[in-house]
Amino acid sequence: MRKRYPFNHGWLFLPERAGSDVPNSDFEAVTVPHSNKILPYHNFDDAEYQFVSTYRKVFRLPEDRRGRRVCLDFEGVMVAATVSVNGHTFPEHKGGYTPFSLDITDYLIEGDNLLVVHVDSTERPDIPPFGYVVDYLTFGGIYREVWLRYVEPCHIANVFIRPQNVLTNDTRIDIDVTLRNVGTADASAMVQAELLAADGASLLAGEPQSVDVPAGGEAVTTLQFDSLPDMTLWSMDNPALYQALVRVDNQGGSQDAVQERFGLRDAIFRDDGFYLNGQRINLMGLNRHQTYPYIGAAAPARLQRKDADIIKYDLGCHIVRTSHYPQSRHFLDRCDEIGLLVFEEIPGWQHIGDDAWQAISLRDVRAMIERDRNRPAIVIWGVRINESLDNTEFYTATNRLARELDPTRQTTGVRFWQYSEFLEDVYSFNDFSGSVQEPEQTPHLITEFAGHTFPTKSWDNEERRMQHALLHTRIHSRKSIMGGVAGAIGWCAFDYNTHKEFGSGDRICYHGVMDIFRMPKYAAFVYASQVSPDERVVLEPATMWTMDRSEGTNDPLFIFSNCDEIELFIGDQSHGRHLPDHDTYPGLAHPPFNITGLGLMWGQAFHDLRLVGYVNGEIAIERVLPINKQPHVLELTVDDAEINADGIDMTRVAFRVVDRAGNVMPYALKVVTLEADGPADLIGDNPFALVGGQGALYLRAGHETGLVRVRARADRLPDAEVVVMLK
Ligand code: GAL
Repeated sequence: MRKRYPFNHGWLFLPERAGSDVPNSDFEAVTVPHSNKILPYHNFDDAEYQFVSTYRKVFRLPEDRRGRRVCLDFEGVMVAATVSVNGHTFPEHKGGYTPFSLDITDYLIEGDNLLVVHVDSTERPDIPPFGYVVDYLTFGGIYREVWLRYVEPCHIANVFIRPQNVLTNDTRIDIDVTLRNVGTADASAMVQAELLAADGASLLAGEPQSVDVPAGGEAVTTLQFDSLPDMTLWSMDNPALYQALVRVDNQGGSQDAVQERFGLRDAIFRDDGFYLNGQRINLMGLNRHQTYPYIGAAAPARLQRKDADIIKYDLGCHIVRTSHYPQSRHFLDRCDEIGLLVFEEIPGWQHIGDDAWQAISLRDVRAMIERDRNRPAIVIWGVRINESLDNTEFYTATNRLARELDPTRQTTGVRFWQYSEFLEDVYSFNDFSGSVQEPEQTPHLITEFAGHTFPTKSWDNEERRMQHALLHTRIHSRKSIMGGVAGAIGWCAFDYNTHKEFGSGDRICYHGVMDIFRMPKYAAFVYASQVSPDERVVLEPATMWTMDRSEGTNDPLFIFSNCDEIELFIGDQSHGRHLPDHDTYPGLAHPPFNITGLGLMWGQAFHDLRLVGYVNGEIAIERVLPINKQPHVLELTVDDAEINADGIDMTRVAFRVVDRAGNVMPYALKVVTLEADGPADLIGDNPFALVGGQGALYLRAGHETGLVRVRARADRLPDAEVVVMLK
C-alpha cells in the first residue's frame, strides 16, 4: 500500500555549497518551507539570496519497504536542485515553480541515510523566467513541502477526473487513471473508482476494470460513471466539492490508492464573455505574486490560504491570476474551497530562451496541468510566457501539449499588444492604456491594467491614492459595458519585491491595491465595495478629511461604498443624501459616490465629517473623520488566535496607529517595537518604522505548545497586546 510521510522537519541548512567534509555541527536546524535568507521587507539586494546552499537530512526509513519503491517528492525548490542520497547524485532539477519526484530506492541503506540537496538560487539564464530582466523576485531555498512516499512498483501515476455535460441530464464523470509499472515484470491490475462526498461518505462505486501494464511502462484506462447520484454544481457561491478514490489491486496482492478532490462545473470563455455554469459573469479580478515580506516565497499553508481569503472576501474578486507561475497548492486548495476562480500560467516573464530553456517550459506546462487539472477553481491555462513576443513553433507546442493533457479547459497566453499571433482559445491582453481598448480578437480577457502606469504608496498624497482607486474603478466599469470583453484582472493585489530595474528603487513595486503586508489602499475599496451589502456593508471615503490636496481643498469627495445612499454631515449640519455615481460608472454594481460642492476652502474653519450609509432605507453603517487627528491607539491584531506548534506555521501580526474614530493615520511614521513572549518567534523588521501608519510582522510557531503574548510599544501611545495559542 502507498504511504506518504511529510518530510519537512529535521533539515540542516548551510548558506553555502558544502562538501561532505563540512560537519553537521556547522549547519543550522531548519524546517521547510524554508527561505534561504530572511530579509528586510525592502531596501535589500537580490544578490543577498542568490547563492548556492546546502540542505542535509539524516533519516531512517519510517517503515519497511516490503517490495515498494521509495520516492522523494519536492513541491518546489528555488531555482535548481541537485539531490544526492548516500552519495548517489541525481541529475539537477531546473525550475522552482513546479514539483519533481525522485525514486531513491536503489540508493537506500539500512540505518541512517544521508540526503543532501544543493540548492542553486542564482538567476540562471538557462532556467525560466531568467535570461533577461524580470519584474519580481524569485527568492531561494526549499520553499515548499517535501514528502517521502512509498509506492508499489505498479502504481497510480496520475488521476484525471473529467466531469462532462454537467449542465444537462446526461452528466457523466470520466476518470483517466495512468498506471506506471517501474518493476521488472509485466503487471496486471484491477482498477476501480469510487465517488465520495466532501466528508468522505461513499456516493457510488464503479465497476472494476482490468489493465495490463508492461514492465517499465505506463497504461491509461478510463473509468466511467454515467448514472450519477444527485450532485451539486461547483459555483462561486456554493463551491461544492467531491472526491474520487481510485484503487488498484495488483495481481500479486499489492494495492495502491489515490484520493483526489474535484467539482462539477462548466466554465467557458465565449466571444461575448465568460460563462460559469451557463451564467455570464463579468470577471473582476487581481493578479497575485506568491511572495511575502521577509520570508520571500517560503510561506506556510496558513498564509497561502489567507491570501485566497483576502482576494475573495476582503476584495470581492471573482478571479485571481497566478502571475507569473504555478503557485502553492495550499493557495489553490483554498480557491477550490471558497469558489475563487483561477487563471494559472507557466513560469516566465517577457523573455524566451533557447531550445533547452523552451524544453523546460514545456515540461512546466505538463507539470502544472498534471498537478492541477482536477481543480474546479482553475478555469484557464496560460501557456505563453507572460508578455513575450510571438513564437509560432514554441507556442504551437505549448498549446498542443495543454490541449492534449486537458481537453476540458481553454488555453490562453498573456500579451501586451493587439494582433499578436492567436494560437490560443482566449486572447489575453495587458491593457495599460488607462482605458479599455476595443477588443480585436475574441474571446478577450484583460489580464493586467494600472500597475506601473500608476504606482501608489499607502502614504502617498491623498489625491494620488484617490486617482489610483479611480483608475481601477474606471477600467472595471468600462470593461463591463464593452461587448466582447470577458473581464479584467488588475495589476495587482499586493505590492511585491522586485529587481533594481523596476519599482521605487527600494525593491518594491507599489502596484498593489494592498500593500506588501496585505493592508488596503483606497483602491482596495473599489473591489471591496462591489460585494452585496447583504454580505458586508462597506463605506470607505477616499479622503483623510484634511486640506492636503494640491488646490488646498478636499473636493471632490469619493466614497467607495455598497450603500444605496449616503448622508453627509459636516459638524452637525447635514449636506444631504447622495446617490452612487451610476452615470460616470455605469458598469459597476456599486459605483463610488462622487460628492462635490462642499465648498471647503483653505483658510476656513471646518468640522468633523460624518457619513451615514443607508441600505434599503435603514442606517447600515456610519463613519466619522475627525479634523482633530491625534494618534489615539496603537492597534495590534493577529490573523489567527491559534496556530500549530509545528515549527512551521505562521500568522500575521499587524499594527496601525488610529485616531479616536478608528481611522488609520497614514502619516504616523512612528517606530513600533514588538516582543513575543512564549514558544514562537517574530519574523521581520523589529523595531519597525511604520509605513502609511501601519505595518506587520509574522509570528512563527516553535515546537512547543502554549500561550504567546505579543506586545507592541510606540512612543506616546499605550502598549498593545495580543495573545496567540500554540496547539
Ligand atoms: C506587466 C508585467 C507584470 C508587471 C506589470 C507592472 O508588463 O506583465 O509582471 O511587471 O507590467 O505594471
